[in-house]
Amino acid sequence: MWFFRSPDIVFGEDSLSHLSSFGPVKFLIVTDKFIASTKILELVKQNLDPGAKTMVFSEFGEEPTDKEILSRIGEIRSFSPDVIIGLGGGSSMDTAKIIYALNGRRDITPYDITPLVSLGINNGSRLIAIPTTSGTGSECSWAAIFSDSSEKRKNEIASPEILPGMSILDPALVLSLPPELSRNTGTDAITHAIEAYGSQWRNPYSDAMAEKALELIVGSLPVVMKDPTDAYNRGNVHIGASMAGMAFSNSQIGLVHAMGHALGGTFRIAHGKAVGLYLSPVIRFNLSAVRKRYSRLNRIFPEEFRGKTLDITVENFLRSIGQAVSVSDTGIKESEYRSHLERMVELAMESTGIITNPADSDSSQVRELFLEVL
Ligand SMILES: [Fe+2]
Repeated sequence: MWFFRSPDIVFGEDSLSHLSSFGPVKFLIVTDKFIASTKILELVKQNLDPGAKTMVFSEFGEEPTDKEILSRIGEIRSFSPDVIIGLGGGSSMDTAKIIYALNGRRDITPYDITPLVSLGINNGSRLIAIPTTSGTGSECSWAAIFSDSSEKRKNEIASPEILPGMSILDPALVLSLPPELSRNTGTDAITHAIEAYGSQWRNPYSDAMAEKALELIVGSLPVVMKDPTDAYNRGNVHIGASMAGMAFSNSQIGLVHAMGHALGGTFRIAHGKAVGLYLSPVIRFNLSAVRKRYSRLNRIFPEEFRGKTLDITVENFLRSIGQAVSVSDTGIKESEYRSHLERMVELAMESTGIITNPADSDSSQVRELFLEVL
């Protein structure tokens, strides 16, 4: 027995205005320090019913720790929000998911969130995700990542009960994304679609989402990189990224993410840049396991990028948008990279991406793949 899980999706121009339909209720807006200082927060507030009460929780940065997440939980519970909004990139939406769980169950900590037991967290409040980048797919997933304040480690938790009930994809929120963020989050979304499509846990629903996601993103991201204000193509990438999120959260990611997380946990490097680095080599490694599937994806890319096989096409595409395809492009020194190699292999081998990747791999093959990008 399988499930396909997804939030209700509100998308397209002016979709933020849907927020007014919730009426004069209490909203908790969970958004990081940066977004809280921009006009995006004001824009969201302007779209609420004039009688709505709001509380903003923004005392966290890019990689929120358990301590930060819990810092105002007492106040949040007394506010007793009817609607919890996660507004921002992956970390804001993930934090909102955890707050939603802790607001519903006063006796649990972030570490107790697991898909293995029923949490019973629904206390009548609703969880809405509003992404301000196009890539993480967190708005469509039931996973969340937070950092451990004492051990400096990242924890990935999951439960179908923290899947947002609704996601609002308003292209107005991504029109001013800087090029570096558009490139990295777009690369992440492409990786989600390709990994979902090859995953050993793939299914017809995730396949459909992955194919369409890839078509929308690779058709429109090059235009967005040249003209960031192109609302139509921004909208395509935004929708495509959420579809890629739905694809991988219903089928899992693979070895590219296993390696990308290992690199990201070792060096300070944007997640999209980290996965982009390994995408083409891992596709090459997987080719014989999913040849037909990859040739179908290869035909989705615009002809100008298309090589004989998907690995070549992806590399052409990533180069064209200025994405790093070798360690030297990332600014990491070769000697530093080599000195952390064994630890990165170890971290990658611990990831679930190893299990779901189309081709099986052992640590010596993963080491070779890490070395391929030098
Ligand atoms: Fe990712």
